[in-house]
Amino acid sequence: MSSVKVECVVKANALIGEGPVWEELDQTLLFVDIGGQKIHRWNSLTNHVQSVDTGDMVGFAVPRRCGGYVAGVGRSVVAVDWLTGGMASLAQVDHDKSNNRLNDGKVDPTGRLLAGTMGREIRPAVVQEGQGSLFSVAPDLTVTRHLDQVSISNGMDWSSDQKTFFYIDSLSLTVDALDYDVTTGIMGNRRVVYRLEEGEGLPDGMTLDAGGGLWVACYNGGRVLQIDPNTGVRLRTVTLPVSKTTSCCFGGSDYSDLYVTSASLGLEQAERLEQPLAGNTFRVTGLGVKGRPSNSFAG
Ligand code: BGC
Ligand code: CA
Repeated sequence: MSSVKVECVVKANALIGEGPVWEELDQTLLFVDIGGQKIHRWNSLTNHVQSVDTGDMVGFAVPRRCGGYVAGVGRSVVAVDWLTGGMASLAQVDHDKSNNRLNDGKVDPTGRLLAGTMGREIRPAVVQEGQGSLFSVAPDLTVTRHLDQVSISNGMDWSSDQKTFFYIDSLSLTVDALDYDVTTGIMGNRRVVYRLEEGEGLPDGMTLDAGGGLWVACYNGGRVLQIDPNTGVRLRTVTLPVSKTTSCCFGGSDYSDLYVTSASLGLEQAERLEQPLAGNTFRVTGLGVKGRPSNSFAG
């Protein structure tokens, strides 16, 4: 067994680093700083970071098939022109809930975007419960609400056979699975796959590896858990030198590196001194598993 190594690779000093996406073509890692209102793109070959200002909280950014990115800014799904930094609204959600904002989003295997919302945080991870929803945005920009009564809509990903959608509402403290019809986007039969234990923090972003294992970043847990979704058994815990680990994705030349984002917002002064790397992005090597390429929005 190779040894697991954790290194800080992007010193982004984010308030809430989130939503890492590996882009194979350029060997870059796209991620957002929600509170810092920025989309960052780190080039793993040159170690250079490019950034775009979003002017409001940005929950996620994902690649778009026709070029550029699609991001969740405030309650709007916007197209981002990476070269000019220009943004154009494609769709809006939660019209009637002005305190809400988009949080995590991800693209399904057919190119449909899934994105969730949450109410305003009084402080990190403390919100008025049940204000959020989970939406999809089809390539023709039709918006559909799939779940309501969500507190903090967070991690999502799909099984390789595309029949199961894994989903996290952080405040439920569970990782859930739903049956998923990839043709229609209809989901149902929600059940709990894993319930976080005391001390593991809140489940946040997640990704599936090519072998079907779930990797769940735990906010306030300083760790990423590997879970077998078929048995609900926690297989491994990867510990990071920061407590607010927020999300993860696989990347690198053969998808064998796990990239993990983190937040610094909400840390007390003493905690900041203990974890000077909070807000940065980490690379975990030697896990012995591989991830899968990300999907791009088809709209
Ligand atoms: C949200 C944060 C929240 C955290 C913990 C993140 O996805 O963007 O605002 O505090 O999850 O649930
Ligand atoms: Ca998140």
